[in-house]
Amino acid sequence: MRVAITGTTGRVGAALARHFSCEHEVIRLPRAEFDFSDPEAMSARLAGLDCEALLNPGGLTSLEACEDSPELARQLNVEAPARLAEWASRRGVKLVHFSTDYVFSGREPGLRVETETPEPLSVYGATKLAGEQAVLAHPGHLVVRVSWVFGPEKPSFVDSVLRDALAGKPLVAVADKWSLPTHTADLSRWIESLLIQGADGLFHACQSGEPASWHDLAELVVEELFRSGRLAERPEVRAQALADVAAFRAERPLFTAMSTKKLQLGLQESIRDWRDALREHVSESR
Ligand SMILES: NC(=O)c1ccc[n+]([C@@H]2O[C@H](COP(=O)([O-])OP(=O)(O)OC[C@H]3O[C@@H](n4cnc5c(N)ncnc54)[C@H](OP(=O)(O)O)[C@@H]3O)[C@@H](O)[C@H]2O)c1
Repeated sequence: MRVAITGTTGRVGAALARHFSCEHEVIRLPRAEFDFSDPEAMSARLAGLDCEALLNPGGLTSLEACEDSPELARQLNVEAPARLAEWASRRGVKLVHFSTDYVFSGREPGLRVETETPEPLSVYGATKLAGEQAVLAHPGHLVVRVSWVFGPEKPSFVDSVLRDALAGKPLVAVADKWSLPTHTADLSRWIESLLIQGADGLFHACQSGEPASWHDLAELVVEELFRSGRLAERPEVRAQALADVAAFRAERPLFTAMSTKKLQLGLQESIRDWRDALREHVSESR
């Protein structure tokens, strides 16, 4: 399969490019060559693009940047995917667009399912939802919601905990917000399987298990470092309230753990627990 991928300098795009390169031909479309804020340049590149699938993890992913620049957020998270979906439909290309659990208000505990009505709380969530809708308006494409993505390609929250724990720095993590994380290696395999099966529509793609807070994730990282002998003592992770994180100006939803039931049915395989995926990530991180 010939697969074009946007956002290949990002966490998800880099993982997809690495995974798909093993068995498929990959065309990388990083921002430097395919800038979503330049529609004319995009059209020119799309005119000469020859692929069977187009994977779109690119976009404006910082919640605070979206609050500060709502017009840019619209351009990158709504207009660009709409343009890609229109082009893909016209050319008979399968589009896989990536979205987020932050489309939900997350006011109630429990697992969010694909049929639940989204109610975003932030500019980021609202623009990601509008981007999903623009893609799904064209039949045959795939929208995949991911959450708290981690993997070897680009450091995330769990890597900052790992680094600080090994450096003996104090550890603190938010304990009153829950989700389920997504491992980039697992995600890349799921996307390949969904593509091969010809799946379409909306899928939630994260690890299985009990919903976790960032504090739960941090606790597991230090537990694994201690168990494997990389830390002589197990440091305390101080619990913090979401409301006390001064850097978070955009409102974040509290309960956005997503159900993996539809994904498991679609893949005909079970999804591993976030604890197993995170333990593997920590053991492979140096
Ligand atoms: N990471 C998470 O925890 C998480 C959680 C939920 C949902 N998601 C969703 O998953 C997808 C991928 O996220 P990610 O973690 O890979 O994000 P990321 O690491 O921030 O990567 C975003 C990518 O988009 C590119 N980009 C930014 N501005 C662009 C522009 N003007 N034109 C073209 N490309 C541009 C970036 O390029 P530069 O490197 O040049 O800036 C980067 O390659 C996104 O749709 C995001 O909403 C992620």
